[in-house]
Amino acid sequence: MNIFVTGGAGFIGANFIFYMLREHPDYRIVCLDKLTYAGNLSTLEPVMQNDHFRFEKIDICDREAVFQLFEEEKPDVTVNFAAESHVDRSIEDPEVFLRTNILGTQVLMDACRKYGIKRFHQVSTDEVYGDLPLDRPDLFFTEQTPLHASSPYSASKASADMIVMAYHRTYGLPVTVSRCSNNYGPYQFPEKLIPLMIANALADKPLPVYGDGLNVRDWLYVEDHCRAIDLIIHNGQVGEVYNVGGHNEMSNISIVKLICRELDKPESLIKYVTDRKGHDRRYAIDPQKIHSELGWLPETKFEDGIKETVRWYLNNRQWWETIVSGEYRNYYEKMYGNK
Ligand code: NAD
Ligand code: TYD
Repeated sequence: MNIFVTGGAGFIGANFIFYMLREHPDYRIVCLDKLTYAGNLSTLEPVMQNDHFRFEKIDICDREAVFQLFEEEKPDVTVNFAAESHVDRSIEDPEVFLRTNILGTQVLMDACRKYGIKRFHQVSTDEVYGDLPLDRPDLFFTEQTPLHASSPYSASKASADMIVMAYHRTYGLPVTVSRCSNNYGPYQFPEKLIPLMIANALADKPLPVYGDGLNVRDWLYVEDHCRAIDLIIHNGQVGEVYNVGGHNEMSNISIVKLICRELDKPESLIKYVTDRKGHDRRYAIDPQKIHSELGWLPETKFEDGIKETVRWYLNNRQWWETIVSGEYRNYYEKMYGNK
């Protein structure tokens, strides 16, 4: 089996590559990544010399380069992780989100149509459903929940999902889509909540909590997400959407306090700052379908996963310190300087 993994130098894609090379040592994995600010080749260092792995620096919007690689490799499966993924950046500058997340996905599917594919899997997000109210804990996102995106990021992902399903209906492309809740774990870029709070706390810097800190996310350890995608590409039904989440809802403020406790840092570092525009209140996934059809259940409890993640950031300081000391400083100043 030859699997194309786009966006494999990012957080979830890299974890997926490690997972697949470990679980399916006879597979070939080809990673296509543009290496944007969020892509980090050093993350893939441990597999660069693996005979079953190939890396190509390619923009998924570059039709010629993408088609050329499909021509050469004739992949059996394409798993599309490549995306602009940070909501705050999408609020500042939506255009690249529409280009990569929508048009890039189209280029990949056009290549799949031309060269043939057994499965095109789109890695999507629960954010396409919009948000749920805090006072209705009985409500969850199911695969039938209407798409109701709030941010330019989630709107671009929702658009891509619709194009993916349209390519299935119109051209018979064998697609699947997964919509996962918030991931955490090793190699997450330090602009996202959990690694940002770990990095700031270790530097005794303020911990910027948006609004009242009561927004709720449904956290899943990244390896559980990787296993869900592995199951879907092998056993999932073509043309179907699968929600992925572990019933692990937590408010932002409780996560930040937990990180303070894990690192033995004072809660006085917490600083409430101006809320994100259009900030979604609550995400919560109903994972019944993937559980009953594919037998998937999360294996990592949050208490264990967060400890493991904090330990990873402590043991791999060089990985993220290189990031936070570079161009990222300008981003941080722009986004948090006036909050
Ligand atoms: P990330 O930002 O860490 O990584 C994205 C990767 O895509 C980077 O390596 C980047 O270089 C690459 N990329 C960006 N534009 C590209 C382009 N035009 N061509 C080729 N490569 C390009 O993102 P992540 O958190 O790993 O998310 C991966 C996927 O999972 C995304 O599609 C995201 O929408 C989805 N997702 C993420 C989460 C989460 O909590 N992080 C949850 C659900 C779904
Ligand atoms: P984030 O990690 O950006 O993921 P998403 O917006 O895709 O869910 O943010 C998770 C939550 O944490 C979200 O409610 C926004 C909040 N947040 C903060 O309070 N402070 C921060 O500095 C960041 C980055 C996020």
